[in-house]
Amino acid sequence: MPGNPYLPVSVKVEKITVENDAKDLKTFDFSFVEPAARKAFEFIPGQFGFLSIMGTGEAPFGIASAPSEEFIKYTVKRVGGFTTTLHELEPGTVIGMRGPWGNSYPLDLMQGKDVVIVSGGFSFTTLRSTIVYLLDPKRRKSYGKITCVYGARSAGELLYKEELKAWESSPDIDLHLCVDKLGADAWPKTEGLVPNVLKQVVPSAKNAIALVCGPPIMLKFTFPVLLELDFAPEMIVVSLEMRMKCGIGKCGRCNIGNTYVCKDGPVYTYRQLQSLPAEY
Ligand SMILES: Cc1cc2nc3c(=O)[nH]c(=O)nc-3n(C[C@H](O)[C@H](O)[C@H](O)COP(=O)(O)OP(=O)(O)OC[C@H]3O[C@@H](n4cnc5c(N)ncnc54)[C@H](O)[C@@H]3O)c2cc1C
Ligand code: FES
Repeated sequence: MPGNPYLPVSVKVEKITVENDAKDLKTFDFSFVEPAARKAFEFIPGQFGFLSIMGTGEAPFGIASAPSEEFIKYTVKRVGGFTTTLHELEPGTVIGMRGPWGNSYPLDLMQGKDVVIVSGGFSFTTLRSTIVYLLDPKRRKSYGKITCVYGARSAGELLYKEELKAWESSPDIDLHLCVDKLGADAWPKTEGLVPNVLKQVVPSAKNAIALVCGPPIMLKFTFPVLLELDFAPEMIVVSLEMRMKCGIGKCGRCNIGNTYVCKDGPVYTYRQLQSLPAEY
């Protein structure tokens, strides 16, 4: 977005979707008040934006929509002051947004390769953006097989349930959903933690790249599985969520060693992470 990077543009809440049984995860669809701002907001899956509410503050969130979609989507968990105020907004409210910031998933490097997507909990947001992007009929043939292992604590905690159900029956993506504990629902069918289910799925590492996003504990147990499956450390790509303030490499709030997650990341290869202190 050109101009002053600290200056938010005005966005209007078009739609709010409650995603989970606990009702602490909501997806917000935003339109731009100024149509020119929509044009200027050119983003790539994996990037993030800051939402700001006058009198409350601002916070970073991964962009959950794909560039081809009309509205900019964020899926937000209610955890503290800012996110609680956000959750109380009604459709029609105008707030601020700045970005898009950060790098993205390596979409060019992924071309011609199989793509293995591994995610847990509500970190699935930017991977939803990536899946919608990859499944676009205009570019689906540019990528190989798409395998996705996505898990949550229970069926009620899985995001984007309608889309997941559609993807489950799509020949364009091999989707494996899992939950820590099967409930009374017949869906999904697999009980197990994401790294264990990944082990059972055994995706081939041949000419493949793995995209990983999830809580630190999931990352810790997923990396060894991918390495065992023969994924090279530079073919494992992970998106990190460090605390941030400015989002543009100025304040030093988000550094790990000599890298600023807001500017150099949030997407890193496992090879890069190996040379950084394990602060993520
Ligand atoms: C690049 C990036 C992308 C993100 N994407 C999303 C997203 O798509 N959806 C989403 O819900 N959240 C996302 N987050 C986290 C989100 O920014 C925080 O949850 C939010 O700032 C909390 O603000 P708050 O005022 O409500 O809570 P606070 O009062 O600031 O904190 C409440 C609790 O949340 C914890 N917390 C705050 N920030 C983070 C963080 N960055 N990582 C882990 N724990 C944190 C605090 O330790 C505390 O326990 C992202 C963060 C980053 C840096
Ligand atoms: S958040 Fe300020 S340098 Fe990254």
